[in-house]
Amino acid sequence: MQHNIYLFGAPGAGKGTQAQLLSEKLGIPQLSTGDMLRAARKEGSELGNRVAALMDAGQLVPDEVVIELVKQRLARPDHQAGVILDGFPRTIKQAEALDTMFASTGRAPLQVISVEVPFDEIRRRLAGRRWCSRCNGTFHVTDNPPRPGHVPGCDVSSCPLEVRTDDRPEAIEKRLQAYSQQTAPLMDYYRQRGVLRAVQGTGPIQEIFAALQACLSA
Ligand code: AP5
Ligand code: MG
Repeated sequence: MQHNIYLFGAPGAGKGTQAQLLSEKLGIPQLSTGDMLRAARKEGSELGNRVAALMDAGQLVPDEVVIELVKQRLARPDHQAGVILDGFPRTIKQAEALDTMFASTGRAPLQVISVEVPFDEIRRRLAGRRWCSRCNGTFHVTDNPPRPGHVPGCDVSSCPLEVRTDDRPEAIEKRLQAYSQQTAPLMDYYRQRGVLRAVQGTGPIQEIFAALQACLSA
């Protein structure tokens, strides 16, 4: 069965953490527009330079930019058996564009799972997040540290862990605002289409992962 899964949630809800686990379990790729944009910035590409200031300010980048990125990525041969979308779509316009892409390529319908976490817990998580810009591994100083013996290097590739440039308190507040105003309305969009499910995103990572898998097989 082709799985096309969209992990929906606020910044810091754990979308990336759970998408990586699901990707390993199901053997299908994670498609994170945030990771793709950060990679473009690291390469110093024209696109990366164009979106840097918006990202650091906690604002969404223009719809047409991410829609084009996703369209190209979904066309790749290694994305034909299914995909785990993380951080896309984030506006109604993006959701409509995704529907068009799916319809024109005959993909199995999207399974949308909302990962629900209160904003105060999100602020706490993002303040302690550490990230590896080479492998996109995501950690937390207390709740999800790299394996003992590997600190301060990354679990996966032994590169130094960084604080994301949009994990400053002012940028976190802007991201939460952008989520409430531009992304949260997507819940109704998917609820009306009968494809929205939800899991509680608080508690141990492995328990949330189990709840997600139960949701997918229900
Ligand atoms: P993006 O990279 O998508 O960031 P985000 O949505 O703000 O989400 P995060 O990556 O911050 O959080 P997450 O839900 O992945 O949580 P994580 O697993 O890391 O986007 C960044 C920017 O790019 C946007 O602001 C925008 O500018 C641009 N952009 C991207 N996509 C776009 C789009 N479609 N349209 C327009 N612009 C776009 O977990 C967070 C922390 O919590 C980690 O430290 C983790 O270890 C920890 N943690 C995870 N689970 C748990 C748990 N159960 N208990 C305790 N700690 C946990
Ligand atoms: Mg993420």
